[in-house]
Amino acid sequence: MLASGILILAAVVGLTLYAVWRRHDDRRPSSNFLIVGGGLVFTPAVLAALLVWGLGAGHSMLPLSTDRDVLRIEVRGHQWWWEVVYGGGLYSANEIHIPAGRPVDILVRSDDVIHSFWVPRLGGKIDAIPGHTNRIRLKARRPGVFRGQCAEFCGAQHARMGLMVQAHEEAAFEARLALLATQAAAPEHPGQAIFEQNCAACHSLDPRRRSPEPGPNLADLPHRMTLGAATLANGRAELRQWLAEHASLKPGNRMPPHDHLDAEAIEALAAYLEGEP
Ligand code: CUA
Repeated sequence: MLASGILILAAVVGLTLYAVWRRHDDRRPSSNFLIVGGGLVFTPAVLAALLVWGLGAGHSMLPLSTDRDVLRIEVRGHQWWWEVVYGGGLYSANEIHIPAGRPVDILVRSDDVIHSFWVPRLGGKIDAIPGHTNRIRLKARRPGVFRGQCAEFCGAQHARMGLMVQAHEEAAFEARLALLATQAAAPEHPGQAIFEQNCAACHSLDPRRRSPEPGPNLADLPHRMTLGAATLANGRAELRQWLAEHASLKPGNRMPPHDHLDAEAIEALAAYLEGEP
């Protein structure tokens, strides 16, 4: 569209300059050619061609429910994180894995206030509204990592309501979902009791279970790129820092402060979350 617009603008400017240059010339050419050719034939032909092209391009971006090759992923906004639900009730948070080259419909809603789901490099933005499901189509041409962000002011930590989208080759995508599906909490771990006491009311370590008062599902936490909805990069030191200082790293977030846990308890909790002995 832009290229066509530039070409036509250049032609119009050229003709204007030509007209100015020839304005005192009595040997004017017949104007019928320009009026009929440029006004009646050229314009409708170009507009019709661009319309056909634009309809096709626009159609492929529409999240039509009749498309069969489309993957559907549910995303729910919360203050201030994203809940991600893959088909068959597989839960994760703040990170969406998609196959590259395939259209993916994101079914967006909210469990509290209005948020807006936006991954600028993969598609438009759409509001996440309580009690209503909106649909937006994303498509990544090739594998890569794409940053997303809440784009509707939703409270104190609106700015730290980020998300990551990773597009994979088809096999790697299947493997990543299989990895999520097979996550299980380490049995008889020193961190287990601390988790049960302090975290389990909101966080689930089972990818197939949603907590009654849902905070981010933590099943595949060790494999995620970020912590706290893209507040920190994920890593050993960062996880411990997040557990100890999340209240100052992301002030106002809904997780109660962990001031009552000493360094040893934080370490045990972090190791439990990482699935390490
Ligand atoms: Cu959620 Cu801004």
